Amino acid sequence: MMSDKKILYSGMQPTGQLTLGNYLGALKNWLLLQEEYNCLFSVVDLHSLTVRQKPADLRKNARNLLMQYIAAGIDPEENIVYYQSHVSGHAELAWILNCYTHLGELNRMTQFKEKSAKHESNINAGLFTYPVLMAADILLFNTDLVPVGHDQKQHLELARDIASRFNNANGDVFTVPDPYIAKVAARVMSLQEPTKKMSKSDENPNAYILLLDEPNVIRNKIKRAVTDSDAEIRFDRGNKAGISNLIEIYSCFTGMTMDEVQSHFEGKGYGDFKKEVGDVVAEGLRPLQERYKELQKNKDYIDQIIKKNGETANYLAQKTLRKVKKKVGLPELVR
Ligand code: AMP
Ligand code: TRP
Repeated sequence: MMSDKKILYSGMQPTGQLTLGNYLGALKNWLLLQEEYNCLFSVVDLHSLTVRQKPADLRKNARNLLMQYIAAGIDPEENIVYYQSHVSGHAELAWILNCYTHLGELNRMTQFKEKSAKHESNINAGLFTYPVLMAADILLFNTDLVPVGHDQKQHLELARDIASRFNNANGDVFTVPDPYIAKVAARVMSLQEPTKKMSKSDENPNAYILLLDEPNVIRNKIKRAVTDSDAEIRFDRGNKAGISNLIEIYSCFTGMTMDEVQSHFEGKGYGDFKKEVGDVVAEGLRPLQERYKELQKNKDYIDQIIKKNGETANYLAQKTLRKVKKKVGLPELVR
């Protein structure tokens, strides 16, 4: 079913619209790697339930997210693009892996601490065991490589530890996955508070750029981006967080190195700089936005992708699960 390339797995939560951070930190790397690997890209809808969702919004966001993967250039004929909730093996393996995860490990997760502070009235068990479900996603498919943004590094380390612990106890079952975190744009910063990560849940829409923002909205948000009071276009994250973030964004869209970007703008003012950054981002996202509009018209095509890829993912997941269940001593189903 899959060729003998190595396996890549990644996913995003359908909790809103994708931002430039999701795109540059994760999705763009998926595009670069998709030919070299056998890839699974999931819409991790089960993860989203850890925070209250309006059911109708969740359904809509999940479908829009899947379409944005495809619009960005993920080929759904060559890769397995699917909904996590269509493959029950995720939840089953997560249960088993829960029994191989220590409370102390989960207590150390910074995302749990951040999210519990933010959702004080709903610190549910799912939020706590979220990283175990993520480990199950990855280990279910014998994944070699997981491209993610910097904020997921700790979760990935935990997935590796769980895999090794399981293998030590039961013999080699799981591949221990490697993270893939790009050097540039692993942490795209907020346009309004450039020492904070750009996040789709920010209350101020000027803090983020959505992939589907209109070109003039993109240009305006970049024009309003917070910078600093000197006038030098120089990459220095410690002292010039806002400018450095924009340099990084510009570099991603043009393929220039940071040094090249600096020389390109030497002697120019922040106004000119921001205008050019706005232009390259708006232009750079245009093909994705056009493809997205086309896909919206093509309901049957998307339905068929969802069905076919869900079946393939299920087939592969069951293969791993059978092995895992046997190893831990669960009785085989007699047919
Ligand atoms: P999420 O939206 O939390 O499901 O994140 C999906 C992917 O985007 C993950 O790989 C994140 O690490 C990545 N990501 C989210 N925000 C950013 C950001 N501001 N900069 C870089 N990567 C990000
Ligand atoms: N936790 C990830 C995030 O918030 C999403 C995710 C869930 C994921 N399962 C995954 C990413 C498996 C990579 C691999 O961004």
